[in-house]
Amino acid sequence: MCKVIAVVNQKGGVGKTTTTANLGVGLEMKGKHVLLIDADAQGDLTMCMGYNNPDRFEKTLTTILKQVIEDELENPFEAVIHNEEGIDLIPCNIELSGMEVSLVNVMGREYILKQYLEQVKDRYDYILIDCSPSLGMVTINALAAADSVLIPVEAEYLPAKGLEQLIKTIRKTRNKINPKLEIEGILMTMVDERTNLSREIMDLIQVGYDSSVRVFETKIPKSIRAAESTVLGTSIFQYDMKSKVAGAYKRLVKEVLGDA
Ligand SMILES: Nc1ncnc2c1ncn2[C@@H]1O[C@H](COP(=O)(O)OP(=O)(O)O)[C@@H](O)[C@H]1O
Ligand SMILES: [Mg+2]
Repeated sequence: MCKVIAVVNQKGGVGKTTTTANLGVGLEMKGKHVLLIDADAQGDLTMCMGYNNPDRFEKTLTTILKQVIEDELENPFEAVIHNEEGIDLIPCNIELSGMEVSLVNVMGREYILKQYLEQVKDRYDYILIDCSPSLGMVTINALAAADSVLIPVEAEYLPAKGLEQLIKTIRKTRNKINPKLEIEGILMTMVDERTNLSREIMDLIQVGYDSSVRVFETKIPKSIRAAESTVLGTSIFQYDMKSKVAGAYKRLVKEVLGDA
């Protein structure tokens, strides 16, 4: 059974891409078959996985979506690449930005990505989708295709308002297009234990959402090591296995697997 997790937050810079990459590699290290999907036209996940020029890819998520729309999907694995750390990745580049508009007039526009995933699901234990910082059509496609949503939240700024809006969108998606959609959990990222703000926000999230939405026990500490690894295009495990961030992502993997 494959589980599809969309990593979503309409705010940028909260650690979505870093979390997708490290959770993906972490799950792979536990012997799971993982497919990562870059669903952000910035191509950040593609770069994170070691490809510093996403524009050079001819076959990307955009290619796949176009083929599904035209009913012309022949080889569903055509766009899948295998990176150094043994991860399967569907790359993405700026071409995806055109999809927001093209999807609008398509029949079954919310379900294009879902249709695609149905064709590759049996090869994988986990499919992780790294979403763009917007709640546009491509992100809605991710929510429609997902079994659950993982929400990274940066602990530096008061996230309550945006979080409320996001959770509302997720509830709406569940009511209208994907009744099975669950919230995997809220993940606190870039946590600086020394500052009060982080602690206050943690308390706020715990009190405000914990009753209905899981907040992961694991908090990802703020660390330059995390930023460095993404720039170098490797996971934190390959870059610095002994770092606090690597330890935190390992614990997150356990929580997601349900054996924390
Ligand atoms: N735990 C962390 N500590 C410090 N910097 C981080 C951490 N996680 C990610 N970063 C850095 O913060 C920036 C935003 O992270 P990213 O994962 O790209 O967020 P998003 O995908 O939500 O925009 C990147 O430069 C990344 O390297
Ligand atoms: Mg990103």
